[in-house]
Amino acid sequence: MKKRIVVLTMAVLFGLSAVACGSEGGSSSGGTDTSAESSSSGSSDSGTVANKDKPLVWFNRQPSNSSTGELDMAALSFNDDTYYVGFDANQGAELQGTMVKDYIEANIDTIDRNGDGVIGYVLAIGDIGHNDSIARTRGVRKALGTGVEKDGSIDSEPIGTNTDGSASAVQDGSIEVNGKTYTVRELASQEMKNSAGATWDAATAGNAIGTWSSSFGDQIDVVVSNNDGMGMSMFNAWSKDNEVPTFGYDANNDAVAAIAEGYGGTISQHADVQAYLTLRVLRNALDGVDVDTGIGTADEAGNVLSDDVYVYNEEERSYYALNVAVIAENYQDFTDSTKVYEPVSNELDESSHPTKKVWLDIYNASDNFLSSTYQPLLQNYDDLMNLDIDYIGGDGQTESNITNRLGNPGQYDAFAINMVKTDNAASYTALLSQ
Ligand code: BGC
Repeated sequence: MKKRIVVLTMAVLFGLSAVACGSEGGSSSGGTDTSAESSSSGSSDSGTVANKDKPLVWFNRQPSNSSTGELDMAALSFNDDTYYVGFDANQGAELQGTMVKDYIEANIDTIDRNGDGVIGYVLAIGDIGHNDSIARTRGVRKALGTGVEKDGSIDSEPIGTNTDGSASAVQDGSIEVNGKTYTVRELASQEMKNSAGATWDAATAGNAIGTWSSSFGDQIDVVVSNNDGMGMSMFNAWSKDNEVPTFGYDANNDAVAAIAEGYGGTISQHADVQAYLTLRVLRNALDGVDVDTGIGTADEAGNVLSDDVYVYNEEERSYYALNVAVIAENYQDFTDSTKVYEPVSNELDESSHPTKKVWLDIYNASDNFLSSTYQPLLQNYDDLMNLDIDYIGGDGQTESNITNRLGNPGQYDAFAINMVKTDNAASYTALLSQ
C-alpha cells in the first residue's frame, strides 16, 4: 500500500510538470497496482495489468509497410503506453551523403585512382524493405547526383552492376571542383542478404567486394555502405589494403578505430540516446509519470536530454535521435560507442522506481550494430533504471524464432520489441492481446 502511495505521488508531481510543458498525460498502467504482494520476479504489476495494457516500445525497426514505408499506426498506438524509438533517418542519410561528397571534393587530386575522370563508387545496401536502409541509399544518391526520381522520391533499388553507366535506377552524377567537372558513377549496388535470408549481412558484403574488385577494381574509388558491419567487412577484405576510402553508418567501435587506418567515416545515430529512450519510456509508463520525465523534463535525479540530440513526433508516437558525422577530424570523441550518455547517466532511486521485469528482443543476435553497440548500452542503462531485462536474441530470419520465446507475457511488466520485418508488428501484438 505504501508503495502505491509513493507511485501515485510521483505521478501527480510529474503530471503537473507535464501540463506545464504541454506534453501528453501519464500512463494507465503504472499507477494501478492494487496487488499487495510482489511476484517472484520482483515485479508488482504483472499480476494485475492485462498484457495488452502493459508498456510497449518498438525500437530500431519502425512498424511500417516495407514496400511503401507507410507507418503502421495500429502498432504504434497499440495502447496508451506504446512508442517507437529510433533515429532521424532522413537527417542521418543526408549527413552520410554529404560526408562522402565532402571527402571526394577535399581529396579530388588523388581520388580518381585510374585517372579516367569518372569517380566510381560501390554501394552495400542493408535491407531493401527497411526505412533506414532506403533513406541511406537515397541520401548517398542524392548528394552524389546519381539519384533518379521515381514516384516522387529517389529510387532506392539496387542496380547490380553498372560499370558502363547504363542502369536506369541511377544516373551518372557530376561534381565540380576547382573549375573541373568529374563524373560520379554508381558502379554497383546490391542488397546484402545471405542465403538464409538475413539482411545487412556483413559476410555477404565482404564477398561482394571480392567479386566487384576482381572484375572492375581499378574503377572503384570509393566504397559506401548502409552500415558499418558491412562497411568494415569490405574494408577488411579489400579497401584497406587498396587504400580506397570506405564509409559506413553506426559509429561502432571497430569502425571508429579504423578511421585512423583509412576508413573514410561513419555516422553516429546516437545509440546512447536511443538506448536510454527505449528503456526510459517504459520506466515512465511503469512509474505512472508523464512520458517526458527524464527526457525533455529533468527527473529528480537530474536526467534530461537537450533538444539537439532527439526529436519527439507525437503524431507518430516516435522518438528520433539525431545523427552526427564521425570523420578524421572528430573521431577521437567517439571511440567508445557503449558508454552511457552523460546527461542521462544518473541512477534512479529504487524506492520510487521499484524493479520491474522487461522482455526485450534483438531481432538478429549477430547484427554488428545491435550486438556490439545497442545491447551493451541497454545493459548499461537497465541497472540505472532498475529494470530487470530478459534479452532474447533472434536469428535475424524469422519472426517465429523470437515470438516463440514470448510464451508467457504475463511474467513481464513491459515489452521492448525489435522485429525481423517492419511489417510484422501484429505477430507480437497478437500475443499480447490474447
Ligand atoms: C543499423 C544497422 C542495423 C539495422 C538493424 C540500423 O539502424 O544502422 O547497422 O543492421 O539497424 O535493424
